[in-house]
Amino acid sequence: MKNLLSIEELTAKEIEKIVTLAAELKKNRAKSPQVLAGQFWALIFNKSSTRTRVSFEVGIRELGGSPMFMSGADMQLGRGEPAKDTARVMGRMVHGAVIRTYAQTDVEEFARFSGIPTINALTDEEHPCQILADLLTIRQRLGGWKGKRVCFLGDGDCNVARSWIWAAAKLGFELVIGAPKAFQPDAAFMKRVRTKHVRVEENPLKAVAGCDVLYTDVWVSMGKEAESADRIKVLAPYQIDDVLVSAAKKKAIVMHCLPAYRGKEITNDVMEEHAGVIFDQAENRLHAQKAAIVRMVS
Ligand code: CP
Ligand code: NVA
Repeated sequence: MKNLLSIEELTAKEIEKIVTLAAELKKNRAKSPQVLAGQFWALIFNKSSTRTRVSFEVGIRELGGSPMFMSGADMQLGRGEPAKDTARVMGRMVHGAVIRTYAQTDVEEFARFSGIPTINALTDEEHPCQILADLLTIRQRLGGWKGKRVCFLGDGDCNVARSWIWAAAKLGFELVIGAPKAFQPDAAFMKRVRTKHVRVEENPLKAVAGCDVLYTDVWVSMGKEAESADRIKVLAPYQIDDVLVSAAKKKAIVMHCLPAYRGKEITNDVMEEHAGVIFDQAENRLHAQKAAIVRMVS
């Protein structure tokens, strides 16, 4: 695996390998392989971040490399320099790149023109690093994803939902997308995925029934701020509250990729009650991304 641009591009075998290695790296954190010794990795972010930025900066250092954080707005990119020209410059100076931006085509183009290992740190279409960390969390909490049913509630067409849909299609677990009509996965996208493992359900109570995992994400993804009022109104019935938790399996876990907006996609009570799992997810970003980098450069 040279790049990590999407879950779509990964095979089930590669996902398994990354998650298994992530668990090992987590256990032996003090003895990380120094696969990035002498390397500089650029972190180019066009959107806000806490978890992704910190976990990559720490992870790259733990692997022996030097991260360089750059806000896209402060670069010539922000003044209109094309991504492919930025990529060709970076490709001659740094050894790898981690990019958070809007268009998926920008990270793909960056990877192509830079020629260096490139990681998608979130685009409008996918958030592969998040899902790898979440799979590690599910394996550690539930023993694995085989035979499990995951319910994603909220904006079923956002980047995190799309990466989940690819994960279910590749790994074969059951995924239910609980979302109102306006926020259900795009039909052309679902046609591209072509899977029997994903079901879309408009009724939130029916969506969570029989589920082992209830998962949510912000209702207003970065870049969608102009639609805030509409989204909050239409998505209100999909808030993870005590009623939805009780309608799932008895020992269901609740997951959130964070940042969380209490009182919107999740109640404060549910968030605090399930904080153990939710902050494991955040920590697992570090281990999963280190594992992905090791596989990319070894
Ligand atoms: N979940 C996640 O990617 O968080 P950040 O936006 O803080 O990086
Ligand atoms: N769907 C969210 C994920 C944040 C980590 C967004 O794109 O803003």
